[in-house]
Amino acid sequence: MDFSQLLSLVALALVASQVAEAAPPPKVTCADGNVTANAVCCQLFSAVAILQENLFDGAQCGEEAHSALRLSFHDAIGFSIHGMQGLSGGGADGSILVFNATELKFHANIGIDDITSEQFPVFQTTNLSAGDFVHLAAAVGTANCPGAPQLDFFFGRAPPVAPAPDLTVPEPTDSVDAIIERFADAGFSVDEIVALLSSHTVAAADEIDTTIPGTPFDTTPFTFDTQFFVETLLKGSLFPGNGSQAGEVLSPIHGEMRLQSDFELSRDPRTACLWQAMINDQTRMQTQFKAAMHKLELLGQPDTLVDCSDVIPVPAPFKGQAVFPATFSRRDIQQACLLEPFPTLQTLPGPETSVPPVPGS
Ligand code: HEM
Ligand SMILES: *[C@@H]1O[C@H](CO)[C@@H](O)[C@H](O)[C@H]1NC(C)=O
Ligand SMILES: *[C@@H]1O[C@H](CO)[C@@H](O)[C@H](O)[C@H]1NC(C)=O
Ligand SMILES: *[C@@H]1O[C@H](CO)[C@@H](O)[C@H](O)[C@H]1NC(C)=O
Repeated sequence: MDFSQLLSLVALALVASQVAEAAPPPKVTCADGNVTANAVCCQLFSAVAILQENLFDGAQCGEEAHSALRLSFHDAIGFSIHGMQGLSGGGADGSILVFNATELKFHANIGIDDITSEQFPVFQTTNLSAGDFVHLAAAVGTANCPGAPQLDFFFGRAPPVAPAPDLTVPEPTDSVDAIIERFADAGFSVDEIVALLSSHTVAAADEIDTTIPGTPFDTTPFTFDTQFFVETLLKGSLFPGNGSQAGEVLSPIHGEMRLQSDFELSRDPRTACLWQAMINDQTRMQTQFKAAMHKLELLGQPDTLVDCSDVIPVPAPFKGQAVFPATFSRRDIQQACLLEPFPTLQTLPGPETSVPPVPGS
């Protein structure tokens, strides 16, 4: 090595060390003492406080938090990368709140009226556009669930101009082909579908079978853990099981519901290996869910939105492990990913249990 080569190496090393030590972006201190990355984000702290107090019962991961997350999906997925059939609406614009008279008639939005009617008066007490409100509520509600990632929030959506078209929200009776096709039309990969379905770890159904409202999709509907990915793979009753409603297959766990779409996606060769890989890999689930939610909240939105993610509360961590529910074990798993061994899990001690409904449904 000659002297000039040595010099350029030294120069490279210097640049690398400067990049590594690059100062974090400057913060602003708001009038109320809160600190954030951008002054326009200051007005969001009071909105976060209003949401926690008036929508989420004091920062709970309950029914309203679950429904706010579902609402963000049903709002945003009204979007196509191939254009909106001449409509100027669509995407993560809050149209589901403002044009509720139209969008809530869509079959896939059954039950969504509960959360929009609760959100509407709260929305009116904030100074936010409907799109900012719906997607801020989803990020704040999710943050109330231990184990969730701190979701991003981008600020500055214009008011919605039109309702989304019908038939953009997938239904539990849809085939895997149809689900993959609809998500692809909105710009999502197969892996991103699985990542987004992590949301069903904090979820329950009111409308699939209206005689059993609040029936959860896993045994821990108040924790953003990976149990959903374990429990959907337990061998169930015959498909479709006796007594099941359209869109539902029976779960072997008493008090638990399994959507037909989750049953099929957990076992389809295109989705089964990521589904299984999520089990007991909290970090992977958090990372992939957060990235897919980032994409979701920006569908149809301009790149001028401001990153106000630091107004979202930091969720409590999940410190436990994924488990087999009491009396279940590896032999109860219907393994669908043939490439990787099923992860080793402990069985919870005790007799077979039943999961209670989510209150407030
Ligand atoms: C294949 C795609 C999907 C289908 C077919 C589907 C279907 C459903 C159904 C049928 C329910 C129960 C509704 C009821 O009876 O009350 C539900 C609940 C829920 N979904 Fe999905 N979903 C899908 C994807 C998603 C995505 C991408 C998200 C969010 C990112 C999401 C979040 C939720 C949440 C949080 C709930 C629980 C709501 C509550 O407990 O109040 N879902 N989903
Ligand atoms: C209300 O929203 C407008 C437009 O986004 C903004 O300019 C104004 O500062 C907001 N007012 C308050 C009190 O947050
Ligand atoms: C931040 O904002 C919240 C909500 O408006 C407020 O209660 C709190 O006092 C503010 N200041 C600090 C330092 O957190
Ligand atoms: C629908 O929007 C109206 C305002 O246009 C609001 O008053 C009402 O509460 C909303 N209803 C539901 C079910 O979301």
